Amino acid sequence: MFNKRTRVKDLLAGDKANYEATVMGWVRTFRNNQFIALNDGSTNNNIQVVAELGMFNDDLLKRITTGACIKATGDVIPSLGKGQKVELKARTIEILGDSDAEKFPLQPKKHSLEFLREIAHLRFRTNTFGAVFRVRHALAFGIHKFFNEKGFVYMHTPIITASDAEGAGEMFRVTTLPIDGTAPRNDDGSINFKEDFFGRSTNLTVSGQLEGELAAMAFSDVYTFGPTFRAENSNTTRHLAEFWMIEPEMAFYDLEDNANLAEEFIRYIIRYAMDNNKEDLEFLAQRLAEEEKALPQDKRSEMGLMEKLEFVVNNSFERLTYTEAIEILNESNHNKKKKFQYPITGWGMDLQSEHERYLVEKHFKKPVILTNYPAAIKAFYMRLDDNCAPERQTVSAMDILAPGIGEIVGGSQREERLEKLEQKMRDMHIPVEEMSWYLDTRRFGSCPHAGFGLGFERLVQFVTGMGNIRDVIPFPRYPKSAEF
Ligand code: 4AD
Ligand code: MG
Repeated sequence: MFNKRTRVKDLLAGDKANYEATVMGWVRTFRNNQFIALNDGSTNNNIQVVAELGMFNDDLLKRITTGACIKATGDVIPSLGKGQKVELKARTIEILGDSDAEKFPLQPKKHSLEFLREIAHLRFRTNTFGAVFRVRHALAFGIHKFFNEKGFVYMHTPIITASDAEGAGEMFRVTTLPIDGTAPRNDDGSINFKEDFFGRSTNLTVSGQLEGELAAMAFSDVYTFGPTFRAENSNTTRHLAEFWMIEPEMAFYDLEDNANLAEEFIRYIIRYAMDNNKEDLEFLAQRLAEEEKALPQDKRSEMGLMEKLEFVVNNSFERLTYTEAIEILNESNHNKKKKFQYPITGWGMDLQSEHERYLVEKHFKKPVILTNYPAAIKAFYMRLDDNCAPERQTVSAMDILAPGIGEIVGGSQREERLEKLEQKMRDMHIPVEEMSWYLDTRRFGSCPHAGFGLGFERLVQFVTGMGNIRDVIPFPRYPKSAEF
């Protein structure tokens, strides 16, 4: 058996010394032809492997370069060096994979995040990305744990669909038809998708919600956690063309139940990461603090990363309606001094991210749950609120806005009344006949139900303090970029 090794994390965590161990990993630095800082990704901390002078021949030592992969066996002994309890005094060192020091792009120095994005295939091997992706893992694991403990069923909703769940037309087409102009056509000149692979026009899913609703009408409580795709041409630090979304869907829930679950959920998973990835988060907090030193005072965060997470876990979110939010924005000095790029034009307007961030960062200084948006600016499946004046018709929608991020969750109570839903779909030009399967849930045993979608990368951004969403997913997809 080849892989009889001790993880660096376990070696460093143990209080024991004076025993034999084998470590394998990638060389971060090699100092004085003696001290190897070795990392295997189990922790940001390196184990110091000591190659005692005279013990190893020069040919071998020359091959211990930054980036090389090695296997070292020896005694774990108390370390005299600063910052580590133990080190490994090597008896044997084997080079598993050489790394040409001249060509290896990751030099042992500080690289910019922009540069590292260009070498995303190697950036896992830096402290920052090591920490980010271990935290990402912890959050994903915490999410499954949360729902499992609550008795939710994990549903795998399809990646290829024929519907547009959000009705926003931001889909990537999936087809095997030729794109050189020879695709079969209908009499009217349009492409004949009956000849396509699925016998119809298909796309990558923008959301698993509609299928989630079907499952919730049988299992009561379900969630999906999968990739979703949006062909929106947004070049921002908050948008990806491929992102992961967690979408719980619950029968017998109204809007308030939905908001309660979302809040409990977010606080639980942040707590989970804090409990399980303290070291990584502390490293990221330090990184952020240093990054912010370069900013003018008014651009710096009021709280450090750990402080912010602690605050979110321990304080309830602010809840208010869209109508109340518009009033606050309208009355704000920020608006009166015309500091918004998009002025507050009154009830019915869609909120821009600058408005959301004003509410969260300047006004309330905590996460906010905004509810009951105008029906006209939200998706077709949201439940019409009762007793509204016709010109002020709202839906039981909720968005959760987080400091530094803006919208992190979008959700709603769903329209469970067949006639109202059909009417809404017709008004919004959603193909009613094609979505007959969806409407069946309203025909056969409909019930009040609700759900939401949490953008996973936006959550990871919030928890890690990373400024750009492209740095919290291993291989980001965005306009003009699908590298690796
Ligand atoms: O608000 P959205 O569009 O809601 C839905 O898709 C619903 N079907 C969810 C549901 O009720 N089941 O998206 C939900 C969340 C947003 O709040 C945001 O966090 C994230 O998904 N999101 C994106 N994240 C990264 N890049 C993008 N382009 C995103 N678009 C939405
Ligand atoms: Mg939304």
